[in-house]
Amino acid sequence: MTDTQAYPPISEQLSDVETARAEGRRKMEWAAQHMPICEHVREEFLADQPFEGERIAMAMHVEAKTAILVETLADGGAEVAVTGCNPLSTHDDVSAALDAHDSITSYAKRGVDDEEYYEAIHAVIGHEPTVTVDDGMDLVAMIHEEYPELIEGIVGGAEETTTGVHRLRAMDADGALEYPVFAVNDTPMKRLFDNVHGTGESSLASIAMTTNLSWAGKTVVVAGFGYCGKGVASKVSGQNANVVVTEVEPRRALEAHMEGYEVMPMAEAAAVGDVFLTTTGNRDVIVREHFEQMGDGVLLANAGHFDIEIDLEALADLAVDRYEARDGVDAYELADGRRLNVIAEGRLVNLAAPVSLGHPVEVMDQSFGVQAVCVRELLENSEQYGPGVHDVPDDLDREIAEIKLAADGVAFDSLTETQREYMGSWDHGT
Ligand code: NAI
Repeated sequence: MTDTQAYPPISEQLSDVETARAEGRRKMEWAAQHMPICEHVREEFLADQPFEGERIAMAMHVEAKTAILVETLADGGAEVAVTGCNPLSTHDDVSAALDAHDSITSYAKRGVDDEEYYEAIHAVIGHEPTVTVDDGMDLVAMIHEEYPELIEGIVGGAEETTTGVHRLRAMDADGALEYPVFAVNDTPMKRLFDNVHGTGESSLASIAMTTNLSWAGKTVVVAGFGYCGKGVASKVSGQNANVVVTEVEPRRALEAHMEGYEVMPMAEAAAVGDVFLTTTGNRDVIVREHFEQMGDGVLLANAGHFDIEIDLEALADLAVDRYEARDGVDAYELADGRRLNVIAEGRLVNLAAPVSLGHPVEVMDQSFGVQAVCVRELLENSEQYGPGVHDVPDDLDREIAEIKLAADGVAFDSLTETQREYMGSWDHGT
């Protein structure tokens, strides 16, 4: 271990750690009951101990579902050090429950400032990992920038989210990524469920619970019609809202139009929306000129990875007053009396609002099942993966789908030999 590990684990930061651990464990037990994939993989790892002697560093949203992944890796024989990947998404009780495990050290704590956030990442890296598991690429970035001497000992990494994969691909294109990382986000079993259904359901639930307001009859502006935006748009229209989509990519804009949503630039949407939800993974999506157009009482929230989609500095500049209107809602009052309400400080709303629970358990079971088998793959077949971003092998993704279907008691067809041959041939015409 390096001497950077001055930052204390969560157990040393809480006053009543035993109570916190018990509550965290209770949350984890509920999650585990609904995570058949991770439980299946955990049984396999307990028997095979594929991670014996490995040190896994993780920067994730530390709540009950993630905790099951962390334990699954530890039960497979690894020493795991974990911290948050967002200052507001940690559940301290879950973090404390994890820290009680013999092979896990958890530094994650809710509400840390920037300095503490990065100290905790340094502390995790201080465990000198052989594998990294990221949600947003914080570990990979810091290891390359500040701990290049560790790279030689790192077998590889896995990345959970779109923004992390996007940053990794940019790094890879610059020739700067020096170890292999799996793009877990990009698998069908992750993206088609977690980004679409998970973000859709949990963002809407978090906003509704935080504000106690209805969707019906509202005009909801969804910025970005990617995987997350599609999920949000379809589910909020199912709640009887009028949906407006903003996009910068012509095919995605056309897709939204053909789905029956109104498509318009944000400059126009700003004047008609009641609720604004950004899902672009980009920055400065809602800025001063848009705030100037908005009506009194609008809600502003972000479901993209970083808190840079809504320009809160510009909003603070415009505002003459700012106060906490409810838990998790900051009202910015403008000179003419209009109040613009920002939920969860513009951080990803399904995880960072006080009532947020993140994605539904079943969805995270899929994403984390893929994460777990990716770590196994990195260690089992490390010689196959050079530095750079790698797609997850399709058979691993299928393996997770098959475990899930079996757990849900869903039978499905398989190709006959003749069909397989036909699908692989080119010489059968009319
Ligand atoms: P995606 O790449 O499929 O979609 C993003 C869309 O936003 C694209 O269609 C793009 O053209 C559009 N876009 C970019 N700039 C824009 C702008 N200025 N105005 C309007 N549209 C714009 O990405 P995906 O998978 O939907 O992820 C989006 C973000 O959500 C990422 O930051 C990702 O990491 C994050 N994410 C958050 C989750 C959560 O739990 N809240 C879960 C999964 C992903």
